[in-house]
Order: sequence, then structure tokens, then C-alpha cells
Amino acid sequence: MQPDDVPRAERLSAEAFYEADLQTFPPSWPAPEQRPPSRAASWIARTGRFLETDPRGSWVAVDERGLAGFATSVVRESLWALATFAVRPGAQGRGIGKRLLDAALATGEAAGCERWMLSASSDPKALRRYRLAGFDLHPQMFLHGRLDRSAIPAVEGVRDGTADDLELLDSLDRELRGAGHGPDHEALARTGRLVVDVRGRGYAYAGARRPEVVAAIDEETAVRLLWESLARGGDEPMIAHVTAANQWALDVGLAARLAIQSEGYLGLRGMSPPAPYVHNGALL
Ligand SMILES: CC(C)(COP(=O)(O)OP(=O)(O)OC[C@H]1O[C@@H](n2cnc3c(N)ncnc32)[C@H](O)[C@@H]1OP(=O)(O)O)[C@@H](O)C(=O)NCCC(=O)NCCS
Repeated sequence: MQPDDVPRAERLSAEAFYEADLQTFPPSWPAPEQRPPSRAASWIARTGRFLETDPRGSWVAVDERGLAGFATSVVRESLWALATFAVRPGAQGRGIGKRLLDAALATGEAAGCERWMLSASSDPKALRRYRLAGFDLHPQMFLHGRLDRSAIPAVEGVRDGTADDLELLDSLDRELRGAGHGPDHEALARTGRLVVDVRGRGYAYAGARRPEVVAAIDEETAVRLLWESLARGGDEPMIAHVTAANQWALDVGLAARLAIQSEGYLGLRGMSPPAPYVHNGALL
């Protein structure tokens, strides 16, 4: 993938995910033409940054109609993460995805990665690809609804994070998923406000729509950080990407009167589902 490909990949991604959702689920993705410009802009900024940090991690497929598909991935220390993977609707199911995923995986193999993460949609074509590539598939739940603000407890022992916390964040990431997010903390900081436990036992990015990451050494800290994220966000939040290893996040969501549903899978190789941890869909 070259910088010129990035805006086209953003459009293709919007179309492919919208189509996939229409087939499997009441659509949660906006129609491509309704995707807010700010969301497209942050996708483009994030992917452009991947090309700088990981020039060999992102691949495109091209056919007579132009961009046919792409896969973007990054290597952080000994961890490989798949950020996005999509093939143009109409060109799917003919082996393009396999070639793209194999190219992205080869980058991780060349880097000697020991841990591998991706957050999968429920598209059966994607799940077939991931399982055949050796990923364990762990179902993901999400909670959604109208937040009962009266249920939010007084949260103590948290503070706003700053750039000085980056070393702490990476050390927590290493405990939980074996590798720091490194440069991806920049992209995460654009998704929400960084909140840090005052004893350095956890952090979260509190986005307006949802917490983007919650990472902690113990469940008590994770619970406080998740409440704080909900308190700072909107009235109809989503707590996304909750694996069975993170029942504490279900308890917080239920206490906030949100409802549980399931969607997609956390795909892992060489590791178990991180906990207490709520992962990010693209930056994991
Ligand atoms: C997931 C995606 C990138 C895969 O690309 P692709 O070009 O369709 O993938 P491939 O053709 O290489 O592989 C799809 C596999 O599913 C099979 N398949 C096709 N239609 C299927 C269906 N309806 N149900 C189950 N399997 C199906 C194909 O036969 C192929 O398997 P095989 O190679 O063993 O025969 C693409 O389908 C897509 O963009 N989906 C929507 C967006 C999405 O969900 N992306 C994944 C994000 S995690």
C-alpha cells in the first residue's frame, strides 16, 4: 500500500463493512455516503501512520477496476496485529482476501512475532480465513443502550493522563498483551481522553461513543476505569469487544443498564484473551 491508496482504501472499507453488516446483523455501520467526514479523516490519518511505522505491513490488491482489496497490519515488539482487512463487494470469495492476509502475515513471520491479534467481524468469509490461518476464535460481546447515569459510582483514584505516561502505558500493555502499543498510543489518544489509575495500575481511553481500550493489572482497577470512561462519554454508549475472560466488564455494563449482545471474534495466535482488558478493534 502506498500513501495514494489510503483514501481509496477508506472508501472500500466503508463499502465492504456496510455490505457485510447488512447481511449478518442490523446495520451498525453507517452507509458509506453517511460515514461522518471526521471518521473517514481519522481512518486515513491512522492508516497513513501505519505506512510510516510499518511500510511492509499493508498490502493492496489491484484489478481492472482499480483497488480490489487491502490488508493493514502492524508489528509492535513481538506482537502482530491486523488493523483492517477488506475486499471490494463483488470481488469477494475468489481468493483475493487469502493473498492479502498471507502477505500481511508474512510480515509478522519475517519479524519473528510470537503473538498475533485481530478483531474479526462476523463475516463467515473472514472467519474461514482466520481459522485456516491458525487463529483461535474467541467470541466477543458488546453492551449497548441508554446509560443510567444514576448508577455511576463516585470514581476515585484516577487522573487525566499525559504524554509523560507513555512508558507506563507500554509497560501495562506488555503485562496484558505481551507488547506495548508504542506509536499507536498517538492514534488511541485521538479516539478518547486518556485516563490513568493514580497508582499506575491501569489506563483507559474514554471516547465519546465508547471506551476504546481499558487495560488494568486487577479487576478492581479495570472496573473503576470503565466507570470513569462511561461517565465521561455520551448517553448511549457501547462497551465493545468484551471476551468471556472479562466478565467484570459485563457486570459494569449491566449495572449501567446496558444490554448484552454478541458480535465478532477476537482472533489470537500464541496467546490467551487478555484480561482485565477491553481491546480496541483496529489497534487491539
Ligand atoms: C473478509 C474478506 C476480506 C475476505 O476476502 P475474500 O476475497 O472474500 O476472501 P477469500 O476469497 O480469499 O476467502 C473467503 C473464503 O470463504 C469462502 N466463502 C465464500 N463465500 C462464503 C460464505 N457465504 N460463507 C462461508 N464461506 C464463504 C470462500 O470459498 C473462501 O474459502 P476457500 O478459499 O477456502 O474456498 C472479504 O470477504 C470482506 O471484505 N468482507 C467484508 C469485510 C470484513 O468482514 N472484513 C474482515 C474484517 S475482520
